[in-house]
Amino acid sequence: MDTGLARLHTIETPQGETFAAALLEGLRKSPKEIACKYFYDVEGSQIFDAICELPEYYQTRTETALLARHAAEIAALMGAGAEIVEFGAGSLRKVRILLEAASPQAYTPLDISGAYLGEVVRALAADYPMLTLRPVVADFTRPMDIPALAGNPRRAGFFPGSTIGNFKPDAAMALLRRMHAALGGGGLLVGVDLVKDPARLHAAYNDAAGVTAKFNKNLMLRANRELGSDFDPEGFAHYAPYNAAAGRIEMYLVSRRRQSVTIAGERIEFAPGEPVHTEDSHKYTIESFREMAARTGFRPRAVWTDPERLFSLHWLES
Ligand SMILES: C[S@@+](CC[C@H](N)C(=O)[O-])C[C@H]1O[C@@H](n2cnc3c(N)ncnc32)[C@H](O)[C@@H]1O
Repeated sequence: MDTGLARLHTIETPQGETFAAALLEGLRKSPKEIACKYFYDVEGSQIFDAICELPEYYQTRTETALLARHAAEIAALMGAGAEIVEFGAGSLRKVRILLEAASPQAYTPLDISGAYLGEVVRALAADYPMLTLRPVVADFTRPMDIPALAGNPRRAGFFPGSTIGNFKPDAAMALLRRMHAALGGGGLLVGVDLVKDPARLHAAYNDAAGVTAKFNKNLMLRANRELGSDFDPEGFAHYAPYNAAAGRIEMYLVSRRRQSVTIAGERIEFAPGEPVHTEDSHKYTIESFREMAARTGFRPRAVWTDPERLFSLHWLES
């Protein structure tokens, strides 16, 4: 069966550091930390997809509804025949709305989770046989060099899922500047989660079924799988409070007892109650996000939100 595989020329860019080196560097620090980009191996990406289905996780269904409701307007801003470049593309589910509405010439999904990207791109290729698909495995915290396609179509960026919230404001601005450069004059559609009732935010990252806890602990299971470390995930608790003063969910793995873990031959000690910071998820107001984006080379233009003002979609022009 032709699944369009001939069209899938995955571009792999150097990651610049190994998981082992980054993990050890973060765990030697005080306080300990692990960068959230390491959540995403195949298992991590699949668990994130399960989070998106949770009743508490309003983000995915609200953003998807916004995309569907405003698809024609967004398509007009992106322009027909563009190359849609999606940053942190994940499951590739949301982009289908834009592929239908905007009729792009090409779609370039970029993600750090390379094996998972390969899987989901194959499924998309089968459904869109006429679309030029060019998956890119890359780390967007590093400079991104996405080669131009034949005919050099205008680029339109797509950055959904409020992934921008995983960065502190200075790093978020640096990321938007890298995207501005990568888009070469094209606009960017960004999904941004909004500040709201802390109880609602807390529930979204502390779901009853424990899927977010599983996602958090996958960091340690990933290390066991890939590096042969001996983390006991039951020895750590998922902890995700909302820090209202900073306007962000903070995610930690907290050691339940005194324990040590050996990673690549190095022993790391954990005290009882010691936290390992694994993720932030910053929340914005519509105005605070527009102000920040305006300092990155983009001009904030249209913005869409839902009646409850849970989530926002921003069109930034270059
Ligand atoms: C919060 S999920 C969002 C997924 C999807 N875009 C959505 O809206 O549901 C973040 C996505 O960004 C990817 N990602 C995280 N850090 C990254 C990095 N440094 N470079 C490239 N992709 C990254 C993850 O693999 C994951 O697919």
